[in-house]
Amino acid sequence: MTHKIDELVDAFANARSVFVFTGAGASKESGLPTFREIDGEWNQYDPMTYATLDGFLSEPVRVWNMYRLRQRQIGDAQPNAAHIVIAQMESRYPHFLLTTQNVDDLHERAGSRKMVKIHGDCWGMRCMHCSEVFDTREFSLPDEFTSETLPRCPHCEVLCRPNIVWFGEFVPDEAMFASIERASSCDVMLVVGTSGEVSGGYGFVERASMHGATIVEINPTEGILTQHAHLWIPEPAGVALPKLWQSLTGLGRNSLPPA
Ligand code: OAD
Repeated sequence: MTHKIDELVDAFANARSVFVFTGAGASKESGLPTFREIDGEWNQYDPMTYATLDGFLSEPVRVWNMYRLRQRQIGDAQPNAAHIVIAQMESRYPHFLLTTQNVDDLHERAGSRKMVKIHGDCWGMRCMHCSEVFDTREFSLPDEFTSETLPRCPHCEVLCRPNIVWFGEFVPDEAMFASIERASSCDVMLVVGTSGEVSGGYGFVERASMHGATIVEINPTEGILTQHAHLWIPEPAGVALPKLWQSLTGLGRNSLPPA
């Protein structure tokens, strides 16, 4: 493993353009569940009900209440060492982008700014008529909705939906184009905590690979994207990333929260 971390450090030390791509595993050490692991969300909630437009239209109260619960979990969680290292990385490289599939806000709370969210944001609600997006925290909404109290657009008074990209829907163009551009021009692509079950279809690693980038994956478990990785670090992100950062910058572990 020491050998692998050394290779990882070399790749990052020589890079000018870095593309970081994260999934639910990046927030696991903050106490948030992933989706497809044994204790994952999709083993508790049927994705056809909770993550499709049809599911929402037939059970809006049930779906909103699941997202309200998730908002409370996210609100209580804190960024972990992986989020903090990724946030610190962005000032080191002239060209940097973090693309996250995560709908939590732990990257932002850790300080990430050069980032896009391709699957939406758990705090957002979007009017089903005018499509305007609102921050749920700016409204006094109940912890649990009934059909009478479901969130409505302040302008149209039409039902709002969670501002999440559900199955069968498209990733917002701007976020997708920015990600493709950075993937196609990076020296290093760092993939953290995603199974690739959804993102395998986005083609980011293939583009980075075609450009000649070094692909590095941090994930305790092999996934769909691992076959493209030049380096696979089979460790939790909150363990591997501080080691990398310490080697690159000389910053002590005590400048980071415990993994
Ligand atoms: P998955 O649940 O599919 O994969 C999570 C990955 O995190 C797995 O490969 C785990 O091995 C890995 N993992 C677990 N703990 C880790 C740790 N401490 N450090 C690093 N990796 C760890 O989640 P995603 O790939 O993010 O969509 O799922 C993609 C999308 O599917 C999600 O964005 C979500 C879901 O439907 C929406 O919510 C719109």
